[in-house]
Amino acid sequence: MVKAVVAAQSADNTQRWREAFQRAWPEAQFHAWAGRGSPSLDAPYAIVWRPPAELFLHETALKAVFNLGAGVDSLLQMPELPPSLPVVRLEDAGMAAQMTEYVVYGLVRASRGFDRYEAAQGNARWRQLPAICRDDWPVGVMGMGAMGAEVARVVARLGYPVAGWSRSARRMAGVENHVGQAGLAAFLSRTRVLVNLLPLTPDTENILNYRNLSRLLAGGYLINVARGQHLVEDDLLTLLDEGRIAGAMLDVFRSEPLPSDHPFWHRRDVIVTPHVAAITLQSAAVAQVVGKIRDLERGVAVSGVVDRDSGY
Ligand code: NAP
Ligand code: GLV
Repeated sequence: MVKAVVAAQSADNTQRWREAFQRAWPEAQFHAWAGRGSPSLDAPYAIVWRPPAELFLHETALKAVFNLGAGVDSLLQMPELPPSLPVVRLEDAGMAAQMTEYVVYGLVRASRGFDRYEAAQGNARWRQLPAICRDDWPVGVMGMGAMGAEVARVVARLGYPVAGWSRSARRMAGVENHVGQAGLAAFLSRTRVLVNLLPLTPDTENILNYRNLSRLLAGGYLINVARGQHLVEDDLLTLLDEGRIAGAMLDVFRSEPLPSDHPFWHRRDVIVTPHVAAITLQSAAVAQVVGKIRDLERGVAVSGVVDRDSGY
């Protein structure tokens, strides 16, 4: 009988996930991680989100670990994670649509001047802004994977000029393609609204820095929905103060929860949301993971296996 150990951030969460997996696949055995004091389950599969490190020291028969999120940065940073253990991440699983809504909201709010209408309403002021020209708002999407590709597709469909930046060439109708370090400067210098959907890896950490952000077109706007460690926060604050960046919508931060004294909270040119751009949907995630475990049990290879060398 197929056996899996489930470990999420808290005991309550772990229980909720375990029950959902058990309901979806009653013939399999899903166990909640009970700590290193209990006997090892010898489970071949672990299903985790920010698990305790001891899990990997205790459960030594693992054949694969499933991450209940798209980003695997925190899991890969655990020294206890065996180097050759396959890590499988969530692929979309209902997150790309949420991510697209979030980005479209930020983009349209900035381009159509809804922030200005909010301010005008505060003063009971009736003031119509002229119609915008979307060509004045070129969007650049960093990372053209499960999330970025869908964001780029929808934003292009809305009529904004869109370019994507990725490690390898990614062709998509209506979306300009820029590749690798060699393509970065040209990508940034044609972009006004920059959307970050890169995985956090040694190559992408701090990529949203003064040098790169100052390459954006005048009136530049940043939407960071990937990881806080991509952004050098002081560099963004300097660029906002200098007027070289007009505003930012930030969902992720170097320190989460964002400390209450952080300057981002109190700026009118920054929108802060608490890491909710795309929330893991339990039913979609369970269906995807169960489908992949069934495939592995039948000897069928699965997609979404992380390349441990590139870190995503
Ligand atoms: P993905 O499918 O793995 O796509 C990653 C993309 O980034 C690929 O297009 C890849 O290029 C590109 N890339 C990676 N390293 C690069 C580099 N050094 N230079 C240029 N391009 C690079 O990832 P995803 O599922 O779209 O998720 C992206 C990230 O979103 C996650 O890692 C996570 O951090 C974040 N996320 C945030 C939330 C939230 O609520 N805020 C929710 C879900 C996910 P190739 O195409 O050439 O491989
Ligand atoms: C959330 O941030 C994820 O990586 O799924």
